[in-house]
Amino acid sequence: ANDQQEAEKALVGAMAAEMVETDMAIGLGTGSTVRHFAQALGQRIRMGLRVRVICTSRQSEMLAKQNDIPTTDFDRARSLDLCVDGADEVSLNFDMIKGGGGALLYEKIVAAASNRRIYMADATKLVGKLGEFPLPVEICRFGHQNVLSHLAKLAQQCALRQRDGDPVITDAGNYIADCQFGEIDRPAELHRQLCDIPGVVETGLFCGMIDTLITIRNGKPVVLTS
Ligand code: A5P
Repeated sequence: ANDQQEAEKALVGAMAAEMVETDMAIGLGTGSTVRHFAQALGQRIRMGLRVRVICTSRQSEMLAKQNDIPTTDFDRARSLDLCVDGADEVSLNFDMIKGGGGALLYEKIVAAASNRRIYMADATKLVGKLGEFPLPVEICRFGHQNVLSHLAKLAQQCALRQRDGDPVITDAGNYIADCQFGEIDRPAELHRQLCDIPGVVETGLFCGMIDTLITIRNGKPVVLTS
């Protein structure tokens, strides 16, 4: 990431932290933009703000720890007031691709449990239509070879995500297939189609989930509501 993108991530992260109110239970997303949010939230907590978060990944747990953000879980907090997360792509009609960091499943569970969802996107994330970013699809390890061939029939390209020659294993113990579909005209439909394949656990298509988008226009953070 270049310096400007990093500066934009810091701006949207800080703006999101300003929207947090005391005593909120919050879903804490995953990624480099969330890191800026967590730092800004940590500063507010040191000034007296009282919040607790449910983390969406090990990285998110680490961010909470590093920034003295108290954590909770779904046994203690059934519903969340707010969820704050990043995005890999946001389309003009506010659909998203997420999961570049591999945390899509927990991110979606937490988003669905939240009363209000704020997503942060630097200017590079904004697109007309989704699809340039390869869609992460979380798949079960058992029988994944068959799921991959199903996916390969639907996608232009599809590959098991690997790191150092081994498949990446998600926090939930699954694999990720990164799939290219070209321009995605109907994301909700594609999501349902993919979920129909037994062994697909979740897709990185987040449709109709943005309540508030914090992004950058003319170098300044703007808050857009859907
Ligand atoms: C993690 O799985 C993703 O959904 C992230 O939220 C997304 O990749 C955004 O990450 P950055 O803030 O690092 O761009």
